[in-house]
Amino acid sequence: MRAHPAGPLHADVLHTELPHAPPPDLNRLDPDVWPQNAARDDGAIQLGGVDVRDLVNAYGTPAFVVDEADFRARAASYRMAFAGADVFYASKALLCRSVARWVHEEGLGLDVCTGGELALALSAGVPAHRIALHGNNKSDSELIDALRAGIGRIVIDSFDEIDRLRKHAHDLGVRPTVLVRVTVGVEAHTHEFIATAREDQKFGFSLATGAAAEAVRRVLAETALELAGIHCHIGSQIFDTSAFEVSAQRMVGLLAAIRDEHGVELPELDLGGGLGIAYVTSDDPATPATFATGLRQIVATACETAGVALPRLAVEPGRAIAGPAGVTLYRVGTVKPVETTSGLVRTYVSVDGGMSDNIRSALYDAEYTCVIANRSSGAAPILARVVGKHCESGDIVVKDVWLPGDVAPGDLLAVAATGAYCRSMASNYNMVGRPPVIAVREGRARVLVRRETVEDLLALDMG
Ligand code: LLP
Repeated sequence: MRAHPAGPLHADVLHTELPHAPPPDLNRLDPDVWPQNAARDDGAIQLGGVDVRDLVNAYGTPAFVVDEADFRARAASYRMAFAGADVFYASKALLCRSVARWVHEEGLGLDVCTGGELALALSAGVPAHRIALHGNNKSDSELIDALRAGIGRIVIDSFDEIDRLRKHAHDLGVRPTVLVRVTVGVEAHTHEFIATAREDQKFGFSLATGAAAEAVRRVLAETALELAGIHCHIGSQIFDTSAFEVSAQRMVGLLAAIRDEHGVELPELDLGGGLGIAYVTSDDPATPATFATGLRQIVATACETAGVALPRLAVEPGRAIAGPAGVTLYRVGTVKPVETTSGLVRTYVSVDGGMSDNIRSALYDAEYTCVIANRSSGAAPILARVVGKHCESGDIVVKDVWLPGDVAPGDLLAVAATGAYCRSMASNYNMVGRPPVIAVREGRARVLVRRETVEDLLALDMG
């Protein structure tokens, strides 16, 4: 579809198909897509009991707003659904000190994959033993910092890392608990998954080629390392849970092979993250409870068949906890109806952010939905595309949405399900400061991360 695969996405090249028919009520907030405590009151939206107009008056736009009670409830439902297992929140989805504390208070551990994420989690007071460190290219200083802190788990990703970790553990006189990351040959995307024996990617050790078994052999031979189990992660935004079934079965097969070869029953099995969320009404992901029941059953059956003792399960949800809790508020600027040669009129609604605060539409062709937030409207629907203020035609926030025809400059737009991988992947493209993260709860708002100012950006430039 692109002139060159390395070229940017362009609106008109990729999105020629027409969207679904307009929904019957453009003012409605679908509870499957919007945070639990989002409601329309007096025409305007309230988030966590706070009127968006008040939020915007106090904090400006664009702004990421997180429904704290929704985030906590999702974390708690994961903890309950996986009672007796470990739930590590994948902090790459959304991380700041308050979020790390919420996660810890709700009884979850934290998964980090850089020294920066680790430092932030520690600075929030998350105990090191509740943190797991991932990464295909951990630096020596990241490994040393993790060991010094007394990290709970290190997920080993390469042979080279085994050697370096052994040396650092020896030097520091510690014996870290580690998992071996396995690539199971299952690659899952929203509605479909591919199970192959071929692996050609940067993470982990291939199961099919025997690299995973060799990694286990080498780690078991290192007295400086305590091997607790094996880990895999098959993808993200997954609706088809049978992908987890295939990966769990393959992982249990490896546990059995390890038992047969070494006489060791590894006590832990970490199956990673990946459960999808609803970005738009037509999305229909499993709930954490259904997902957990299914996964436990699959692992139990596979273990029984293989005659392996049931390991302690671990999962690493990121998006499913942070995603639905977040909403981005923008101010509408230009509104421009554009007629195409095929006669289609699409109204380009420009907002005061864009690909610097949400790169997912441009990067993954991700779908979102949005509504006018400051008022309700009875105007007839128009086909709209919400675009940002950046200098690229691929700078799209919501590629297809029906908005009331009276959408006008000055209106507020709220985009749903932006809690995960939006703030954490934000950039300063075009010297735009990253938006603040505001928590709302029971009628009160509080700044978790302040807005990045032009002064912040200039401060990094040494002239
Ligand atoms: N565990 C590991 C080892 C991972 O690599 C990831 C995500 C997770 C857990 C959490 O996955 P989740 O439950 O959030 O699906 N930037 C992309 C998502 C990349 C996810 C990378 N790894 C996006 O915006 O969709």
